[in-house]
Amino acid sequence: SNSQMMEGSSMNLGWENCRAKGASPGFKVAILGAAGGIGQPLSMLMKMNPLVSVLHLYDVVNTPGVTADISHMDTGAVVRGFLGKEKLDEALTGMDLVIIPAGVPRKPGMTRDDLFNINAGIVKTLCEGIARCCPRAIVNLISNPVNSTVAIAAEVFKKAGTYDPKLLLGVTMLDVVRANTFVAEVLGLDPREVDVPVVGGHAGVTILPLLSQVKPSCSFTPEEVNYLTDRIQNGGTEVVEAKAGAGSATLSMAYAAVKFADACLRGLRGEAGVVAYAFLESQACSASQPCYLDVHVAGLEKAKKELAASIQKGVSFARK
Ligand code: NAD
Ligand code: LMR
Repeated sequence: SNSQMMEGSSMNLGWENCRAKGASPGFKVAILGAAGGIGQPLSMLMKMNPLVSVLHLYDVVNTPGVTADISHMDTGAVVRGFLGKEKLDEALTGMDLVIIPAGVPRKPGMTRDDLFNINAGIVKTLCEGIARCCPRAIVNLISNPVNSTVAIAAEVFKKAGTYDPKLLLGVTMLDVVRANTFVAEVLGLDPREVDVPVVGGHAGVTILPLLSQVKPSCSFTPEEVNYLTDRIQNGGTEVVEAKAGAGSATLSMAYAAVKFADACLRGLRGEAGVVAYAFLESQACSASQPCYLDVHVAGLEKAKKELAASIQKGVSFARK
């Protein structure tokens, strides 16, 4: 797996078979883990997205309350709630996009990999449902450790015979959102005008901000590069420590997830030139890309080593 620039147009990613021709305007979106810290604001923001016509909220607890609450918003999407494992298939049937923020978050002192034991099984069960009920849906996987859960999902889909690497996207958009914010602060710019490519995975040294490729074009001192790289790579830990046991990033994550989901829906609609970053299996972007190698070779080697181990851990779990 690798992270790459995702050309979201349906032509480039081959999403043209994802929806029936002549389907009504607006997309059907399911959120799995919709009652959680990320799930609730994410559900609210997706209810506000004009590209969404049907919004399915699934969780193993508290879905009725969240659904009743969100369904009162006077926006277009029709909201339906699904509570408990026996409702998973119904929640997934007919979906164009499935967003997964289900799973436990970190507490101070933990790594994302410490969540593997609990979240691996959750992701496996949910992806088995996707393979059964909406195998051509685009999947946005948020549950940590993303560097391993994407590999678990891939193995589940391979076993079911439904795997298409273009449809399985590990969500790393929060790293991009953070990078834009921190770089804008250093440059004294509005973050909306800044575009920082971030490739690799979603944990520590596997997060690779490409500070030489920032738009608008600019240069940083070595001290600024060190400060920015460290802050971007450890942004998650900064929030975990500030929340002091009450979880990890939820609000900025919901914002990032919606930004990413919106790019996916616009790509699915056929809009040209949609670009976003994600963690996915790809032949198109390998370590041999010269534009990355000139300045990032040291970081890239470190990232590749850790990523290979995390991916293998997910594969082994799913195959056993
Ligand atoms: P949370 O505990 O507040 O919410 C998780 C929700 O998942 C809960 O409502 C829970 O009931 C639900 N859930 C648990 N098992 C389930 C199952 N089998 N099926 C459906 N739902 C289930 O946690 P959170 O703060 O929302 O974080 C969720 C996950 O997202 C964590 O793993 C966290 O590490 C990860 N995360 C990823 C990123 C990223 O950038 N990719 C950013 C922030 C958090
Ligand atoms: C983040 O980057 O905020 C998330 O991956 C949550 C975490 O555990 O840091």
